[in-house]
Amino acid sequence: MVSRVIPVDPFDLVIFGGTGDLARRKILPGLFRRFCAGQMPQEARVIGAARAELGADGYRDMVREAIHEFGGDEGSDDTKLGAFLERLHYVAIDARDEGGWRDLAGLLRHRVIRAFYFSVAPSLFGDLAERLNNHGLTDNDSRIVVEKPFGRDLASARQLNGDLAAFFDESQIYRIDHYLGKETVQNLMAVRFGNMLFEPLWNSQFVDHIQITVAETVGVGGRGDYYDKSGAMRDMVQNHLMQLLCLIAMEPPARFDPDAVRDEKLKVIRALEEVEPHHIVRGQYDADPDDPENLPDYRTAVEDPKSRTESFIAMKTHIANWRWAGTPFYLRTGKRLCARSSEISIMFKDTPHSIFGEEAGRHRNVLSIRLQPNEGIQLGVTIKEPGPGGMRLIDVPLDMTFADALGPSGAENVDAYERLVMDVIRGNQTLFMRGDEVEAAWAWTDPLIEGWTNRGDVPKPYDSHSAGPDAAMQLMRRDGREWREVTP
Ligand code: BG6
Repeated sequence: MVSRVIPVDPFDLVIFGGTGDLARRKILPGLFRRFCAGQMPQEARVIGAARAELGADGYRDMVREAIHEFGGDEGSDDTKLGAFLERLHYVAIDARDEGGWRDLAGLLRHRVIRAFYFSVAPSLFGDLAERLNNHGLTDNDSRIVVEKPFGRDLASARQLNGDLAAFFDESQIYRIDHYLGKETVQNLMAVRFGNMLFEPLWNSQFVDHIQITVAETVGVGGRGDYYDKSGAMRDMVQNHLMQLLCLIAMEPPARFDPDAVRDEKLKVIRALEEVEPHHIVRGQYDADPDDPENLPDYRTAVEDPKSRTESFIAMKTHIANWRWAGTPFYLRTGKRLCARSSEISIMFKDTPHSIFGEEAGRHRNVLSIRLQPNEGIQLGVTIKEPGPGGMRLIDVPLDMTFADALGPSGAENVDAYERLVMDVIRGNQTLFMRGDEVEAAWAWTDPLIEGWTNRGDVPKPYDSHSAGPDAAMQLMRRDGREWREVTP
């Protein structure tokens, strides 16, 4: 299978925070891969902007190194890399000062799309927006790209939305949640709305419950400072897991267009019920007993022996609408777990009556959508165990692992950032969060965080490389259910 590449229109992409971690690891290597794929037109340029006095050559050197390190196989092709680096420019700029803005104005061209990527702390969003406006660097077609975290609660998200709305229309603002750029996440919509098979069953009459797990093996690493102020709820649930839940639960939009999709997602968030305190389990990982020095416990990693921030969270929630009344959604995410695995499982109800008798056991269909690794979709079906000896039933997967089903190039994994940055240039907001969505997500999240903070809840310790605290297992078992195993 050959993937189709449709070149985008000429653009100037300015990356504020152009020397930062995200730019080095994701944005620039992603742009380079799109360049290699032939998607960047001749007239496309990338302008790094940051405080350091680097100069264009210094910046190109930095980007060369970054692409060698994070650019994958193509990163070692020095001819292509050289050609890509020629598209790069740099301006030393201060978001809170006048320095550099005239230089930036001098670099930008007319009659090409202008996109400004704010890969900086959210506290600078307002300053950047204002200066871009004051220096007349934007027009009605210019685009602003912002990263998460988009606020840390409803009040701060409203403030950020206000800061941007003072100068830009919502149609110009691209709020990134990189989970929406993942291949399988989009496939989720294709599977739901491109097949007749699933939609009639997609409701509380046929679905017993839904599980969403995003498990990571890494700990907080060098991000302890940021992470300890966020925790799994703010870092993962309020955005990534919430987006997955929306795509699973939303009504079919009339069209696959940005506002039609985002209107439906918003309705889901607004219909989420508040989670009962005893339906939330928070945890903190212990040290790896085999390597406590390099893999210390959470509190040591964040250098706060009394931290009550969660590195793991599991919860049960409900969506109060006709489609989902009575079907629980179980969400779980955590760091330093036993495997890196992100999976959504639609657990269908048992058949109402077994004609095969008690000894055939209870069987149910499971549709599992695997985001990473081994992207693919599996439908568990019940069949007869082959061979003589009567009617014994077993569950087998109808497996569509993309790499097997589509061949290596079909499963070619375009990184989420590659896709999303190209969508910005195309002007397609479908895979970006709208301001009201983000606010609604915080409105649901805030009372839960306030609740456990006011109660003084302490997260439960869990073993490194386990599936999380036992209490998370109990959360399911109390309902007569089990989490799916976390497998790599
Ligand atoms: C980020 C979080 O948004 O997503 C990180 O801040 C997390 O803590 C990461 O590790 C996970 O992303 P992915 O694409 O590796 O699943």
